Amino acid sequence: VGQAFARLLSKKQKAYPFRIVAIHTLRHGTAYESGEFGPTAGSIDEFLEKARPEIVCELTPLNPESGEPAITYIQKAFERGAHVVTANKGPIAFAFHDLEQSALQMGVQFRFESTCMDGAPVFNKVRNNLPGVSVLGFTGVLNSTSKVVLAALRRGATWEDGIREAQSMGIAEADPSYDLEGWDSAAKTAALANVLMDARTTPLQVERKGIAGVTPQQMQALAAERKTIALVSRGERLDHGVRLSVQPEILEETNLLGVIQGTSNLLLLHTDLMGTVGTVSIDPGVDQTAYGVFSDTVDIARSI
Ligand SMILES: NC(=O)c1ccc[n+]([C@@H]2O[C@H](COP(=O)([O-])OP(=O)(O)OC[C@H]3O[C@@H](n4cnc5c(N)ncnc54)[C@H](OP(=O)(O)O)[C@@H]3O)[C@@H](O)[C@H]2O)c1
Repeated sequence: VGQAFARLLSKKQKAYPFRIVAIHTLRHGTAYESGEFGPTAGSIDEFLEKARPEIVCELTPLNPESGEPAITYIQKAFERGAHVVTANKGPIAFAFHDLEQSALQMGVQFRFESTCMDGAPVFNKVRNNLPGVSVLGFTGVLNSTSKVVLAALRRGATWEDGIREAQSMGIAEADPSYDLEGWDSAAKTAALANVLMDARTTPLQVERKGIAGVTPQQMQALAAERKTIALVSRGERLDHGVRLSVQPEILEETNLLGVIQGTSNLLLLHTDLMGTVGTVSIDPGVDQTAYGVFSDTVDIARSI
């Protein structure tokens, strides 16, 4: 994502003259304005002190158990008065309100468009285009690996074939059970609820059932009845709190939620003033995730 973002900045340099002042990685080292990668900075404090960025783009891998070290990195950036964009859903799923509070205290902006739908507008759409709207709930199909595996089972292929296909597309986590047991969807569900429904939740509080019990025979029998299965994320606002779930659902094959395939994803927001409105993204890849980071960066630049 970082490399795709750098390419995008270079392509749009004329209209959007952002400057990369430094890059910090784990194994590739750290680069400052000279452009050469040298040894990795000793700490995030050392890096930020030397780099002095106005906007930090946090693009480290997801830690599905705690959201760290990204949460700490983001806090440190705020403490130094930098705005932050992240594509990492961990901090939003585990610590959104604390981070939002820190940003508010420091008078800086925090953006995270790429965390749930690979860059397609969700959070910025609500923020910028749906003033006064209250999100009462949402329904989404947000995990690519489960879609690829379910489609393979529907064709009569085995679980192993489906997982191999997702891995060859580069979309499955190193441990695919994270996708197939619904953890990826639960993290996105918690993130959406924290941001859009003011929930104070984590992925651990999402009622979660993965697709492990689905068999090729079941998928083919459903196909004969023009039905299918999708791993569906749902959020619902209750009088006190929210109800959040991720589970496989049997759907008519013409149901929008069942039609979405591969890396494509769909999210419907159920609102008080705008009824149900949605975002759909067809076959997004890393360039679209990078675009989400770019759109956040532009949104921040416009507000400062
Ligand atoms: N790929 C997608 O299409 C996509 C879609 C939506 C959201 N995202 C999210 O975007 C983020 C980045 O994804 P990616 O696919 O670009 O991951 P990636 O290929 O694994 O790259 C992660 C980068 O973070 C660096 N890094 C790892 N641990 C670090 C640490 N402790 N401190 C500093 N730097 C560290 C790595 O350094 P080295 O290069 O030196 O190892 C690498 O440059 C993830 O949170 C992911 O969930 C990705």
